[in-house]
Amino acid sequence: MKLRSFIVGLVISFSTVVSASTGQQIFESKCSSCHGVNTDISVAPILHGRKTEYLRKQLNDFKKGKRPDLLMDGQMVAVASELSLEDIGAVTSYLEGLEPCDFPKESADLPGDIEAGRRKAAACLSCHENWNPGLRAPNLFAQRQSYLVHTLGAFKSKSRKNSYTMTSQARRLSKMDMQDIGAFFSSVSVCE
Ligand code: HEC
Ligand code: HEC
Repeated sequence: MKLRSFIVGLVISFSTVVSASTGQQIFESKCSSCHGVNTDISVAPILHGRKTEYLRKQLNDFKKGKRPDLLMDGQMVAVASELSLEDIGAVTSYLEGLEPCDFPKESADLPGDIEAGRRKAAACLSCHENWNPGLRAPNLFAQRQSYLVHTLGAFKSKSRKNSYTMTSQARRLSKMDMQDIGAFFSSVSVCE
């Protein structure tokens, strides 16, 4: 009995190690040119520290044609289509373990008022502040403001239509609301 659980434990820890290193390899070879810390491409969202379940759903949505890539002309859809389910599991687990601490701040000239955004985002926090596994609303703190404004606009125009909840949330927001809310969420640091 003891030997058996030892072997089971060994197999589990071995497969965790394998998937972490494959996840890192996939990220470095296929994703970091757009999603890495040292990239010039600042339109792509920061994936570091986002929950596996959320990232996995998005990759599957890109793969199945439920979510377009409007920022980079479909390149994200093409990348996702090449990933197997195992690849998706490995790369998303790797990403969840990273911290979004070293990304350069976006330009201070972006329009948006952090204090106004804090007030306007109060209603969003019930879903977005703490991870709820049933709801799967991603954490938005420290995300790029320009990406948040882009994707809220895409929910509102229904070009991104992979969430009924968010389509109805974004419907009520003006462009200025999106800029203020984006400024607020991006300003909240999740690092020491
Ligand atoms: C050519 C640049 C590029 C590459 C390479 C790339 N992505 Fe992306 N990715 C993007 C862009 C741009 C978006 C946002 C698209 C949009 O919403 O219009 C995105 C969005 C995403 C999202 C959704 C994030 C969210 O917050 O909703 C996930 C998950 C993702 N990418 C994972 C990956 C993974 C994993 C890889 C590597 C296997 C990868 N990407 C490679 C450009 C890229
Ligand atoms: C009832 C719960 C709920 C409320 C309230 C809510 N959201 Fe969401 N939000 C979600 C869920 C669930 C998702 C994930 C959608 C998906 O799977 O694509 C999401 C996704 C998002 C995204 C996309 C994140 C990314 O990385 O692409 C943004 C931005 C966002 N919400 C902003 C807001 C804002 C701003 C408000 C308030 C005006 C708000 N949400 C209110 C549940 C909610």
